[in-house]
Amino acid sequence: MVKQNRQATSELEELDKQGLPRNRHAELRVMAMPKDANPAGDIFGGWTMSNVDVAGAISAMRATGGRVVTVALKSFAFKQPVAVGDLVSFYAKVIGTGTTSVTVEVDVYSQRWATVGVVVKVAEALLTYVAVDAEGRKRPVARREEVS
Ligand SMILES: CC(C)(COP(=O)(O)OP(=O)(O)OC[C@H]1O[C@@H](n2cnc3c(N)ncnc32)[C@H](O)[C@@H]1OP(=O)(O)O)[C@@H](O)C(=O)NCCC(=O)NCCS
Repeated sequence: MVKQNRQATSELEELDKQGLPRNRHAELRVMAMPKDANPAGDIFGGWTMSNVDVAGAISAMRATGGRVVTVALKSFAFKQPVAVGDLVSFYAKVIGTGTTSVTVEVDVYSQRWATVGVVVKVAEALLTYVAVDAEGRKRPVARREEVS
């Protein structure tokens, strides 16, 4: 299982026994439902993108201590399809801090329950969030890296 996952991904992220990133916790874990499928039967890419944005925002909010807005989706790659019934885990971490913004990397893994426990990396993304106050005005963030 783990071996298969390693073959499927180009990165050499350290994986645990299940094939999920070691020493990281998922910001979000969601089961992909039939209502989220596209006409071909796989999960609609927009569903994955939406959850990536939510997971990244959770990480950004924790790092900046408050509200954030998404200002840019810098990159997004779909590496494998997500299937109906997959348990999809979204791992997010802040990789850069600016004056009012943070850049967050999100890695997405699917546990294929249809094939009992096989885990594959399905997507990766880089997003920028701006810290804002209650009125939506940008606010400075403390310059610190988060390990999540
Ligand atoms: C986010 C927002 C408050 C920024 O206001 P602004 O006065 O234009 O801010 P700036 O141009 O000074 O940019 C603020 C920060 O974002 C960064 N930024 C802005 N556009 C960016 C882009 N396209 N890519 C990467 N970073 C960007 C800037 O580099 C700056 O970072 P820093 O302060 O860490 O150096 C405003 O653009 C906004 O409200 N956008 C809409 C957000 C939204 O509705 N998102 C979707 C729903 S959450």
